[in-house]
Amino acid sequence: MSDSRPIGVFDSGIGGLTVVKALRDLLPNENIFYLGDTARVPYGPKSPETVQRYAVELAGILTRKNAKALVVACNTVSSVALPLLTKKFSMPVIGVIEPGARAALQATRNRHIGVIGTRATIRSGAYEKTLRAADNNVRVSSRACPLLVPLIEEGLLNDDVTDRMIMRYLEPMLADGIDTLVLGCTHYPLLTDAISRMLKRQVMLVDSAQNCARAVEETLDQQSLRATPPSRGELHVALTDAADNFLNVARDALQLSFGEIELQPLP
Ligand code: DGL
Repeated sequence: MSDSRPIGVFDSGIGGLTVVKALRDLLPNENIFYLGDTARVPYGPKSPETVQRYAVELAGILTRKNAKALVVACNTVSSVALPLLTKKFSMPVIGVIEPGARAALQATRNRHIGVIGTRATIRSGAYEKTLRAADNNVRVSSRACPLLVPLIEEGLLNDDVTDRMIMRYLEPMLADGIDTLVLGCTHYPLLTDAISRMLKRQVMLVDSAQNCARAVEETLDQQSLRATPPSRGELHVALTDAADNFLNVARDALQLSFGEIELQPLP
């Protein structure tokens, strides 16, 4: 039996479209309802309590849209609100931390992993805890990179200023000997080319978007929630405030197509 209810995906804003892109590529038959909280982005500098409250509100909206699963396409929300969402909502809830950590552990050879993300994500220690819980011997170097999100939102994906910031943030970790780097923010996959170009030696990049999409596939299979052919998945995008230019940056960079954007009022 095919389950055509949408996968509900949410993020603090537009960045979670990197996860949508990975979901569209991997699960083309699935309908997706994407909700971006553009009225209140960024979440990265906010307190865990505020992010948790926002997350519950957004998940509530997606429940009312009849979502069959919730995908938390935001590292900041995943790092501080996943247990709460899992407790409050009955459908499967999939975040980006666990899948990213799992992929990083598979990729590393010297057991030294770097993690970059927003201030809230790094302060929460969520990646570090998840990595250490799976492997006690792993070494983790973390760094908040608060200036990368605004640079990406300005569309400076291939730009000297962005390159310089990347190096400023990453140099201490590279000097420390990481061999794997977790891109722990939904915006960062848009910098994959720039980061790869800037890294002089071989460092494996772990993209939370692709690994999250694989975890969603696994969950849908386990719980018999897959939409099957001939269902052709559609992408519906709703935002809590008018979109700015970053929507065009993301749409072009990710080559995503979606119809008119719905304005979703907050409760
Ligand atoms: N979506 C956020 C994340 O993945 C980045 C943007 C924000 O600070 O809200 O952490």
